Amino acid sequence: SKIWGFENEKVLDYMPGSKERMELKRALQSLKEEVLEIPLIIGGKEVRTGNMGQCIIPHNNKKVIARYHMAGEAEVKMAIQSALEAKREWEKLHWEHRVAIFMKAAELASTSWRARINAATMLCQGKTFIQAEIDSACEMIDFLRYNARCIYEIYSEQPMSAKGTWNRMEYRPLEGFVFAVSPFNFTAIGCNLATAPAICGNVVLWKPSSDAVYSSYMVFKLLQEAGLPDGVINFIPGSGGIIGNMVLSHESLAGVHYTGSTEVFRTMWKNVANNLDKYRTFPRLVGETGGKDYIFAHNSANIDALVASMIRGAFEYQGQKCSAASRAYIPRSIWPEVKEKLVRDIKTIKVGDVEDFGNFMGAVINQKAFNTIKGYIDYAKESNEAEIIIGGNCDDSVGYFVEPTVIATTNPYFKTMVEEIFGPVITVYVYEDEDFEDIIKICDKTSPYGLTGAIFARDRYAIAKLEEELTHNAGNFYINDKPTGAVVGQQPFGGARASGTNDKAGSKYNLLRWMSPRTIKENL
Ligand code: SER
Repeated sequence: SKIWGFENEKVLDYMPGSKERMELKRALQSLKEEVLEIPLIIGGKEVRTGNMGQCIIPHNNKKVIARYHMAGEAEVKMAIQSALEAKREWEKLHWEHRVAIFMKAAELASTSWRARINAATMLCQGKTFIQAEIDSACEMIDFLRYNARCIYEIYSEQPMSAKGTWNRMEYRPLEGFVFAVSPFNFTAIGCNLATAPAICGNVVLWKPSSDAVYSSYMVFKLLQEAGLPDGVINFIPGSGGIIGNMVLSHESLAGVHYTGSTEVFRTMWKNVANNLDKYRTFPRLVGETGGKDYIFAHNSANIDALVASMIRGAFEYQGQKCSAASRAYIPRSIWPEVKEKLVRDIKTIKVGDVEDFGNFMGAVINQKAFNTIKGYIDYAKESNEAEIIIGGNCDDSVGYFVEPTVIATTNPYFKTMVEEIFGPVITVYVYEDEDFEDIIKICDKTSPYGLTGAIFARDRYAIAKLEEELTHNAGNFYINDKPTGAVVGQQPFGGARASGTNDKAGSKYNLLRWMSPRTIKENL
């Protein structure tokens, strides 16, 4: 019953001498040659306010890569008006034509735009080539194609009809506009936050993170090239406070599609509550927020798999993933071997300029993030409840570099076991093997979040116990794998508790949030 199949985009390996490596190097070089001036794009037109922000390269923090115009109140008003005007035609366009635009965008992202968007992602987010390839090529392409496929599935879902009647569901878009607010850490997420509501026939105001205006702008240009009509998505970087207050108090706000901090999402939710009497409809609030994601090992764990997953889960993407492994529970009996292997392998990790393809980690995003992460590491250094097992050095003289850091603590409620750090730091609590069941309860209660979690065990009873007890603290639960790297179409992504509304990015459950179905009964 499917019109087309779906396959995940293949991750290219960028072997030395390969065509893709050469193209990427060329794109990096050419992007660095100019300081791009980025306008707002409202109703398809470039708008300049002269109120400028700038994007710098995290691993080369004196280098400005772009300056961007920031939206003020007048531009927000203009964007809302343009969106609502565009809506009249857009929501009437047959869905096959809407879908074709996003399929085309995926095609461009897979071919002619691949090197440029990956290079922009590397330069403005500090990602290595492979991190960029997985994010701004593969995951972005997968979101676009998979959502297109889900649209067809949703529209085909129709109710039963009793004899003499014909019932049908009309999956209308929401009445109003959607506000998409995207984070710095994933180009793919920004693209999905803006395009998932749009593919359902909605119009969107897109405010990208200030740290990712550069890569987000590239995505916007790609969508334009794919044929996105003017005004369907309006690109409005700027101050979250100014834009948010205006947008969230508008009568036509129909939804918020957000990824970012829990604190900002709570503020937005309260703002929506305060404005509730103004709205024509109850806005859909979809948010994916923070995490304090765990790895829980049983003493039957495969130690090599555990160690590899701790390293990849905690340090890939410089730990700047809401899903990153940032606390671990390791039984005393296996800790000496785990520790030895962790230290051995972490010593080989190269941190540095991501334009050197030999580095495994780049810099963290900005000065504020660097200071926060360093603050947590310093706190652990000074505490008598913690010790640094490896790493712990931070240097922001050239770029915002933080070494991959492992902290061990004797307190399962130690600050770095509880709070989200959003950097390359993992804290280990070593438990007595016989306390296994009590520690599961502590793992469940330790943090307010519920995004991802991973367990390592070969003993089936232990696996079953962990799966059963840790029901609500991970919307994405991994058995014998790291808690990161959900693949679109394979592991729908999202968590509950303080981690968000769990509307599973990359699934039809997310798309349904951008539809307001009408049930039609007709007597025959
Ligand atoms: N979807 C990503 C992951 O699973 C996080 O943004 O790691």
